[in-house]
Amino acid sequence: MTTILTTGGAGYIGSHITLELLNSGYDVVVFDNFHNSSRKSIERVSRITNGAPKLVEGDIRDQAALDALFASHKIDAVIHLAGLKAVGESVARPAFYYDVNVAGSTALFNAMLKHGVRHAVFSSSATVYGEPEIMPIEETTATAPVNPYGKTKLMVEQILTDITGIGEGWRSMVLRYFNPVGAHISGQIGEDPLGFPDNLFPFIAQVATGRREKLNIFGDDYPTPDGTAIRDYIHVMDLARGHVKAIDYLLSERAENNQTPIVNLGTGNGFSVKEVHAAWQKACGFNIPAEITARRDGDVTIYCADASKAEALLGWKASQGLAEMCEDHWRWQKANPQGYS
Ligand SMILES: NC(=O)c1ccc[n+]([C@@H]2O[C@H](COP(=O)([O-])OP(=O)(O)OC[C@H]3O[C@@H](n4cnc5c(N)ncnc54)[C@H](O)[C@@H]3O)[C@@H](O)[C@H]2O)c1
Repeated sequence: MTTILTTGGAGYIGSHITLELLNSGYDVVVFDNFHNSSRKSIERVSRITNGAPKLVEGDIRDQAALDALFASHKIDAVIHLAGLKAVGESVARPAFYYDVNVAGSTALFNAMLKHGVRHAVFSSSATVYGEPEIMPIEETTATAPVNPYGKTKLMVEQILTDITGIGEGWRSMVLRYFNPVGAHISGQIGEDPLGFPDNLFPFIAQVATGRREKLNIFGDDYPTPDGTAIRDYIHVMDLARGHVKAIDYLLSERAENNQTPIVNLGTGNGFSVKEVHAAWQKACGFNIPAEITARRDGDVTIYCADASKAEALLGWKASQGLAEMCEDHWRWQKANPQGYS
């Protein structure tokens, strides 16, 4: 069996990837300190898949814990998701973000170097592009992150690229996600944000369950057909399948040694805030209160991927639309109004 390590594998995206890897015939070891996740996600993944991912609790900055992990498990490739992801918190606590996201990643790569594991997929973000003027965003678009979170992602991309370049059979891939949303169709695993949700889907989900009073739509005077900002949302199961394709690729003859291709994972289609709000109301079957408020600092009009490289390199294309994203996210939230707690 080929064994994949998912760091941060108990989290929102990691649990869906772990599930999809198990369903695709891979063995999985999950490494997580549960900073922003619950053991229950992995228990549920085991139940859904009839699989048995191994769970190792530890901090990605703990070199000794990582050495012990690689010494005791035969790992063939790593998907590195563990880290912190809240843009606002990264502005308030940059040292914490550089420590977990950058120092944590170098600790992981050091352990891989020591134990001869040379295949890695890194979870990066479209945030590294900053505020580009030309849409859709291609992988060759200049990077210019505007907050510490985005800077940590870009730094780790560069570190991984340099390490992969040393030779010795290294192969890696950087995946830049657009806006992952939705949940597994079972409704048993999904996004469980810590504290105040920054993003549109988890926010609407909490309004729909009555945890929050109303949705604030930040600005309806953008130069878009309905005046609200447009984003490229991607179903988390499409994203998970993209990771399985990335691992299949790295472990195949198609992959080139010493190279770190960068690949956008998005749909290439954007939806406005008002379109998302309407699709959520349709999925729930009731009215979700919303109010137009002032624009939010730092929000750009449109942010969409050019998703063609993923199709050409990996043979992967997102297949799930906005209705499924809302229906699946709602199924999870309705069954788990307080998340995993
Ligand atoms: N969700 C998004 O919108 C989005 C977009 C682009 C990129 N990403 C990236 O994808 C990855 C996964 O994101 P997610 O949405 O699933 O977030 P998440 O918070 O649900 O998952 C991250 C996981 O990492 C774990 N973790 C945090 N600090 C750790 C540490 N010090 N040691 C070990 N584990 C630690 C958390 O407990 C959690 O399980 C992150 O690297 C994130 O930056 C997410």
